Amino acid sequence: MPPLEVREVADPAGLYRAAADLIATTAAAAVAARGRFTLALSGGNTPRSLYQLLAAEYAKRVPWSSTDVYFGDERCVPPDSPDSNYGMASEALLSRIPGLTERTARIQGELEPADAAKRYEAVLRSAFPDGTTLDVSLMGIGPDGHTASLFPGIPELNEHTRWVVPTNAPPTMKVHHRITLTYPVFANTRTVVFLLAGADKRDILEKVLASAGNPQAPYPASRVTAREHVIYLVDRAALGRV
Ligand code: 6PG
Repeated sequence: MPPLEVREVADPAGLYRAAADLIATTAAAAVAARGRFTLALSGGNTPRSLYQLLAAEYAKRVPWSSTDVYFGDERCVPPDSPDSNYGMASEALLSRIPGLTERTARIQGELEPADAAKRYEAVLRSAFPDGTTLDVSLMGIGPDGHTASLFPGIPELNEHTRWVVPTNAPPTMKVHHRITLTYPVFANTRTVVFLLAGADKRDILEKVLASAGNPQAPYPASRVTAREHVIYLVDRAALGRV
């Protein structure tokens, strides 16, 4: 497993800019080396402003016409639902860059979950036939340590074969049925980037970092590995430094 890097930024604005810069630099290198850049988006609230920044100031700084977009997880709702990860990303980014929607593979949250998972797995297997998967996976961490839709204690944390599975979020969460990429996909991603901002992330960040890399860690985010880099972009409030 590559060493984990924690990169501190001052505040949410600094976080979005650092993430956008990382995406622009990594994308340029990926296109130069392999002719395309592959990026998995996450859902939740944190990345929305990043997507808006990418659509505005970074519209010309990322090689979008050579970028293929995927998703780390999806809620089982139609794409036009306010809870859809695709819907949020589409509104903030995908629909704003000419041609990017056509280069985006969304998880079909409106289908029966097992069917949607199988279809998405087929899409990924055909896009990544040699087993090395994404160039960059953007990820968030929830208050219970979940990441993508890998929740504490679910059997899918032990999935070693399938790349995409249906999962269930805890009943307290708004959309119960989810579809998520699994650890093997993230482990074969070149660079995994966690984005965390705000004081309400402080406790869980500390716990996740304390058990990072432990395959039995109680917090799903701790178990995520990557091929080359695992980067935590974190603002001062999330690190408890304000
Ligand atoms: C989702 C996500 C999820 C998210 C975390 C953190 O579909 O909700 O992909 O794993 O990243 O819940 O979300 P925030 O960063 O918005 O707190």
